[in-house]
Amino acid sequence: MNWDSTTLGFYGVGAAAVATSVATLRKRLDLSRAKHRSLTGHARIARRLARLLPFYEYGEERFFCSDGAPAETAARRRAGFERLSELYRARFSKTIKSTAEAAETLSDFQFTAAYRVPFQYSRFVNARLPSASFVQSSNGVMLTDLDGNRSYDLTGSYGVNLFGYDFYKETIESGAARVRALGPVLGSYHPVIVENAKALKEISGLDEVSFHMSGTEAVMQAVRLARYHTGRSHVVCFCGAYHGWWGDVQPGVGNPLPARETYTLTDMSESALRVLRTRRNIACVLVNPLQALHPNAGAPSDSALINSGRGAHFYKARYTEWLKKLRAVCTERKIVLIFDEVFVGFRLAKGGAQDYFGVKADLVTYGKTLGGGLPIGAVCGRGDLMKRFRADRPADICFARGTFNSHPYVMAAMNEFLHRLNTSEIDALYRGLDRVWDDRARMLNTRLASVNLPVRVANLSSIWTVCYTQPSRYNWMLQYYLRAEGLTLSWIGTGRLIFSLNYTEADFAAVVDRFVAAAKAMQQDGWWWRDPAATNKSIKRAVLREIIAHRFFSPNSLWKSDTAFMPPARSGGGA
Ligand SMILES: Cc1ncc(COP(=O)(O)O)c(C=O)c1O
Repeated sequence: MNWDSTTLGFYGVGAAAVATSVATLRKRLDLSRAKHRSLTGHARIARRLARLLPFYEYGEERFFCSDGAPAETAARRRAGFERLSELYRARFSKTIKSTAEAAETLSDFQFTAAYRVPFQYSRFVNARLPSASFVQSSNGVMLTDLDGNRSYDLTGSYGVNLFGYDFYKETIESGAARVRALGPVLGSYHPVIVENAKALKEISGLDEVSFHMSGTEAVMQAVRLARYHTGRSHVVCFCGAYHGWWGDVQPGVGNPLPARETYTLTDMSESALRVLRTRRNIACVLVNPLQALHPNAGAPSDSALINSGRGAHFYKARYTEWLKKLRAVCTERKIVLIFDEVFVGFRLAKGGAQDYFGVKADLVTYGKTLGGGLPIGAVCGRGDLMKRFRADRPADICFARGTFNSHPYVMAAMNEFLHRLNTSEIDALYRGLDRVWDDRARMLNTRLASVNLPVRVANLSSIWTVCYTQPSRYNWMLQYYLRAEGLTLSWIGTGRLIFSLNYTEADFAAVVDRFVAAAKAMQQDGWWWRDPAATNKSIKRAVLREIIAHRFFSPNSLWKSDTAFMPPARSGGGA
């Protein structure tokens, strides 16, 4: 080799190295561009900041005027708050007492009580408007608590309650009767499972089915299968989407470890499609169609409601177009497209989101209502993707078990559920479903607007969220006024209302009256007083300044992250 050819060789290697670095750099840039600009879109930063966030709270004085309201307004708020507090103690006394006692040993109660409202207000609220987490019966669309109070249920039991509690009482009872002779035998199956698999095959339009014990496990299995069959490592989730509490699909706050093999990308964006087109390590894309109501935002909990920035709107055509694009890219790149229909399956349409949006997935997960009232997760998929072993490599398997999977009682309740799905009563509920719930949302919004209340609802069929039309720090108080009017919400408050489809027009009209009465009472008590200069941004900035001051300048601040973010201690009266 002469000097010239050696030099040329060096140049060649150098050029190849530069080209590789440029390509890698470009991919990195594409990935950064495909992240949503919010903190939710930047899971690692969010987790780091969460560890730095200090606990602080407003004293009793500041509680009523943290937005700078004048003394007269603060006094009205205080009077309204005390009135509510007395009402709660009188009306819910037994239920509150039982909840407070149980909270000593039930960690879930402690957690949910601490995170019902923004943490700056939480301890004060819990002490005076304590949560009451016990109910003794359900009937129609109503719940009865331990004190005998009846209230309209807007929790939907996390989405499980699609057809009304009485429906599920029946599916559980007749299912149990059917398998009583077998009892809890596991490992072998009761024959109802065959019918279930056949029905799910038909509903999903896919070839095979596997049963699991929760939605979280169904998602775990779908992702595991996608990794096994593609030989690729990474899962793509979209910003804000919930897929259960398994680590790989919970990249942000709440998971102590980073999800290293998860890309969290911006929903409904070309930049996300670009990443899917250019990266070779992506096994699957997970879609939770519920995000169509609020793309890129997390579950709208009142604990994050420090201003009125919560927004939501459902555009079916736009989301459909997005899903079609996603489908095309996944097909082109041999990426497994998973619809996580644990929440929306059966709720949007009998055939779920695939049917509703007219887009087919490779794997679909179901859960919640499918169990006929009992715990369930299911995966339906293409035959080639559902295989857990390879005929030519016997030791190369994709393991999936679970002691309680295919439990006879669950399978039987599911069987009842699936049979009843084909009755004329249920057919009637699905007929014109969107129109019914859109009309109802419009009716409530018209009533709210007609009396100048700064509250509106947005909906994806029977899944609703409450939004606020003028800047305020106190919107979370609405959940307490709603409860006083006999409307029960889940612990995330006004962020999510879930209706069962057995709400009649009369039931719904009663909910509207109560909702408007609650919002009116809150307005009269001065909580929506507004500094004309305040904007959602200015509120956010003010809260940020408070956080910085407490983090770095408060006497208690030790500049150590291990003292940060102490959850509010439980108060004597509250749970
Ligand atoms: C879309 C979605 N996937 C998965 C899950 C997890 O299901 P489970 O709570 O049954 O584990 C949920 C629960 O809310 C969900 O909404």
